[in-house]
Amino acid sequence: MVERRFSRIQTELPGPRSAEVFARKSKYVAAPLEVYAPFIIDHSEGALIEDLDGNRFIDFSGGWGCLNVGQRNARVVSALHDQVDHYLHTDFTAVPYAPFIDLAEELCLRTPLDGPRKAALFNSGAESVENAVKIARAYTGRKSVLVFENAFHGRTLLTMTMTHKAKPYKYGFGPFASDVYRLPYPYTYRKDLSPAEIEQSLLSLVDPSEVAVMVVEPIIGEGGFLVPPAWFLPEMRRLADKYGFVLAFDEVQSGIGRTGKFFAFEHFGAKPDLVCVAKSLGSGLPLSAVIGRAEVMDAPIASAIGGTYAGNPLACRAAIEVIHAIEEERLMERAEPIGNTIKDRFRKLADRYEIVGDIRGIGAMVGMELVVDRETKAPAKEVTGQIATMALRNGAIFPTAGLLGNVLRVLVSLAISNEQLSEGLDILEDAFAEVLG
Ligand SMILES: Cc1ncc(COP(=O)(O)O)c(C=O)c1O
Repeated sequence: MVERRFSRIQTELPGPRSAEVFARKSKYVAAPLEVYAPFIIDHSEGALIEDLDGNRFIDFSGGWGCLNVGQRNARVVSALHDQVDHYLHTDFTAVPYAPFIDLAEELCLRTPLDGPRKAALFNSGAESVENAVKIARAYTGRKSVLVFENAFHGRTLLTMTMTHKAKPYKYGFGPFASDVYRLPYPYTYRKDLSPAEIEQSLLSLVDPSEVAVMVVEPIIGEGGFLVPPAWFLPEMRRLADKYGFVLAFDEVQSGIGRTGKFFAFEHFGAKPDLVCVAKSLGSGLPLSAVIGRAEVMDAPIASAIGGTYAGNPLACRAAIEVIHAIEEERLMERAEPIGNTIKDRFRKLADRYEIVGDIRGIGAMVGMELVVDRETKAPAKEVTGQIATMALRNGAIFPTAGLLGNVLRVLVSLAISNEQLSEGLDILEDAFAEVLG
């Protein structure tokens, strides 16, 4: 038994109750749905999770980036109870409801684009990216899509094609969608890249007059928590203007306050035409949105976009409270101190362990890249997995990321307390010591 103030491991993992559920999972749940944690959740609050056997964990994955306001935020829970007592579903385009429109308004007011803005709601991040492409194609009358190395945009046919990493996301699932072109990305830790090289690459891949949209994550998430150099997003804006294509920012992972601003792109002084959000918007309920310049958003013909459950009322009520909680509980102001605490502790690990190659991030979106040695920068994928597993078994959930699987990343709730944060980082430090000696 290892008990700290917030975390507690009192059984083997999985404990007997979790093990019984896992036995049925093997029998009834399709094998590709592999799971990360060796336990089954019972309940959760803020950044803490307790499993069926009474073990407690500090969750640095934040429900894989969905819980910026914390698990079961009080405002969100109360709005959901109220909504359950009114109605559950209609299909907005059949019988409309106010929460859909309220949320669209809240999002438009907070998205700093030039001129009037409009929004459309969907269910998942992939769906929002897919619809951004549809909207851009309708607006430009062009077909081609530009994406970047290291990108992750989802798992539908089009967004899987737009995603870089082959295994596991694309393996065995071809043929892929056509007219998607991948540009080099300025992964500053690993290579130098100039704006001219990106433009040259674009011109060599496709005639720019055929490009409908460039989709880019302002800070790359699944692909390794990559923060671009200051010139990158303004330069992509310049290319969009020069060649007349739509610029769409995928803020599914980086948005909703995680970096200390509502959108990560606000740190870089470049405005897109379309923004995709999901994950922390719904605080665990399936919800996504495309917000954009009104003239672009209005381009598809009537009824061309939508979906049965798109922007369902429960998710909209939750999202409105997420936005209010972020503002009234001043959660965005927490992003930087949380990120600084994490970076300080990561730097101490870097002083002690050669394996720490790079520490990067903005606000609370922080990652650490692990390498076999600092000269060759060969990725230390196996050790990254071992450290994450050790931390998990000791009470703290740290997700990994990166094309090469060698990045530890933090997607922790902004509602985590300083004491919980510190305890979780102690657990990570111990995991480094146990794995690396
Ligand atoms: C940047 C980005 N875009 C799109 C997606 C896909 O979102 P979803 O899994 O909700 O379809 C993700 C998911 O991790 C993401 O990080």
